[in-house]
Amino acid sequence: MKVLETERLALRWLTADDAPFILELLNDPAWLRFIGDRGVRTAEEARKYLLNGPIAMVERLGFGLYLTQRKLDGVPMGICGLIKRDGLDDIDIGFAFLPQFCGNGYAFEAASAVMVYGKTTFALRRIVGITSSDNAGSIRLLEKLSLKYERMVQLPKDDNETMLFAWDA
Ligand SMILES: CC(C)(COP(=O)(O)OP(=O)(O)OC[C@H]1O[C@@H](n2cnc3c(N)ncnc32)[C@H](O)[C@@H]1OP(=O)(O)O)[C@@H](O)C(=O)NCCC(=O)NCCS
Repeated sequence: MKVLETERLALRWLTADDAPFILELLNDPAWLRFIGDRGVRTAEEARKYLLNGPIAMVERLGFGLYLTQRKLDGVPMGICGLIKRDGLDDIDIGFAFLPQFCGNGYAFEAASAVMVYGKTTFALRRIVGITSSDNAGSIRLLEKLSLKYERMVQLPKDDNETMLFAWDA
């Protein structure tokens, strides 16, 4: 189901059939470095990740991570959306794009639409973003979205502290 449309992008619910794309994204060196190793190595593991992760979250909460496609040709480029994760009180915005699509403003375009969606459809008064301190692209993107650095946080199952950015209404 389509959730959002911008000038160049369509964001829709992920399905188990997106497993090949998710397998590629979760094994991209930037994902492994900045987000972490989810141990997803086969299409079947990617299906399970989708069913237990983003798809379950949308079914449970109404929001989650969405597949972000280029409208021009329907190519899946990344994921972007809202996440409620264990160990974090607030809902955070998440994004990841395959490297060949980075640097074109797609992430900002998708994330801007997701921010508006969260504020309007879900009436969120606070949206946070987390990133490791060496992820310059993510930090810049969060700042461009008007999130401000607040503090370092320690998430469960994460050895290192993470930067917490926040937008408050
Ligand atoms: C973070 C990420 C989504 C940014 O995607 P992108 O397509 O490069 O983003 P955009 O083109 O919309 O650019 C957004 C801003 O970030 C800046 N930016 C992007 N990469 C950057 C980098 N490596 N260093 C510094 N600034 C960077 C852009 O220049 C732009 O700012 P500007 O308008 O002032 O020039 C992408 O690099 C990615 O998917 N990384 C791997 C996954 C990841 O780290 N996700 C975030 C986890 S917290």
